[in-house]
Amino acid sequence: MAKLRLVHRCTDCGASHPKWAGRCPACQAWNSLVEEIEGPDDIATLAAGMALIPAGVPRPIGEVAAEGALPVRTGISELDRVMGGGFVPGSVTLLGGEPGIGKSTLLLQLLAAWDGPTLYVTAEESAHQVQRRAQRLGAIRDGLWLHAETSLPHIIAAIDETKPELVVIDSIQTVHDPATAALPGSVGQVRGCAQRLVVEAKDRNVAIVLVGHVTKDGGLAGPRVLEHVVDTVLQFEGDRHHALRLLRASKHRFGPTNELGLFEMGHDGLAGVPDPSTLFLADRRAGIAGSAVVPTMEGHRPIVVEVQALTTAGVPGVPSRRSAQGLDSGRLSMLMAVIGRRAKMAIGDQDVYASTAGGVKLTEPGLDLGVCLAVVSAITDQPLPADLAVFGEVGLGGELRQVAHAVRRITEAGRLGFRRVVVPANSPDGDGSVRMLRAGTLAEAVALSGLNR
Ligand code: TYD
Ligand code: MG
Repeated sequence: MAKLRLVHRCTDCGASHPKWAGRCPACQAWNSLVEEIEGPDDIATLAAGMALIPAGVPRPIGEVAAEGALPVRTGISELDRVMGGGFVPGSVTLLGGEPGIGKSTLLLQLLAAWDGPTLYVTAEESAHQVQRRAQRLGAIRDGLWLHAETSLPHIIAAIDETKPELVVIDSIQTVHDPATAALPGSVGQVRGCAQRLVVEAKDRNVAIVLVGHVTKDGGLAGPRVLEHVVDTVLQFEGDRHHALRLLRASKHRFGPTNELGLFEMGHDGLAGVPDPSTLFLADRRAGIAGSAVVPTMEGHRPIVVEVQALTTAGVPGVPSRRSAQGLDSGRLSMLMAVIGRRAKMAIGDQDVYASTAGGVKLTEPGLDLGVCLAVVSAITDQPLPADLAVFGEVGLGGELRQVAHAVRRITEAGRLGFRRVVVPANSPDGDGSVRMLRAGTLAEAVALSGLNR
């Protein structure tokens, strides 16, 4: 019989090392190694995972049958959008998010909306707690099974008994497999359970969703390796003090990962936000300096957001502050340098605060021009015209560069009542509903927006 041995497992990347070290030699993370017993079954689960792909003969790619790979719609359109149409039978999805963000709520609503038998395995809360939440959500229906269980073999037995099409395991970190030598709650245990579930999901052609806790910095706690094991990784984010929740895929084997799902948490659970632009602009007050409206793109969906900036005189002798919320802070610093050098505006000694209104995190290059014009508007204390929207990437030379989906951005701005839009000079024509103000440089965009320097 193969022997058990003590290893030091990195809770970040999952690599194992014979000796302890303050820093993981594989991924360079600090203080991430924990002691763990590694047993022969780790190798056995790995081998079982490999056996998933049946041996075959080479075939022309066009003749390979694609059966079984079609996603099944969930009935929750914001979720279907992110999942590229729905859940693929036999696939395993990991849903990560901070405690209290709404993972259990979303998944209970998913199982209730599903058209077929489903199973909710609660390994954290009691069956009674989940049932009470289900009552509040109106999620009680025939064909939705509830099982309070933490032991993996019992969970698999319950899947065989209830024959669901979709299973939720809440959470993977509280499930354990007695056949795995690793300690309960350890990285090896969590990874072993996930690997086994991947095998069982494929075997039964059932879709499984695993809930995973995340750490403070947003990574999935401990088993980053889970991300390699599963087919799809979803992140559920948002500010707990706001009702808005964002769902994104960071990995997806069956479709693109750039779609954004938007929900609002209310008294009766999560509701999709079909018209995010209207929501993001709801609290906007026109005529205030330091505000610019930008039609951004999230995947295939245009979303119009407000970018806000505030500038104050910095403290002499202290490096000036560049504070970004919902925006990339490195990008903000770069744009401030471009304003200083290329638009010839003295902002070096100013503290600059920039944010997206509504708490949504955006990293898209089309925001650049909005950030710059919001800052110039703040410094000069002149508001941008109320009917003006702007978008475009700003280069280090102060030039404006085209961004993707210009026409869809312009159409969305027009739908919301904006009549003029400042765009990079080479952008394609819009649908005619909005006047296009073409600018080749940031300085030209400042002038076209009616700001005097
Ligand atoms: P939950 O789904 O338990 O979060 P997670 O599983 O990610 O830890 O959601 C918990 C929060 O959501 C809790 O603070 C209460 C709030 N909530 C509502 O506001 N409305 C609701 O209908 C429900 C069910 C929860
Ligand atoms: Mg929960």
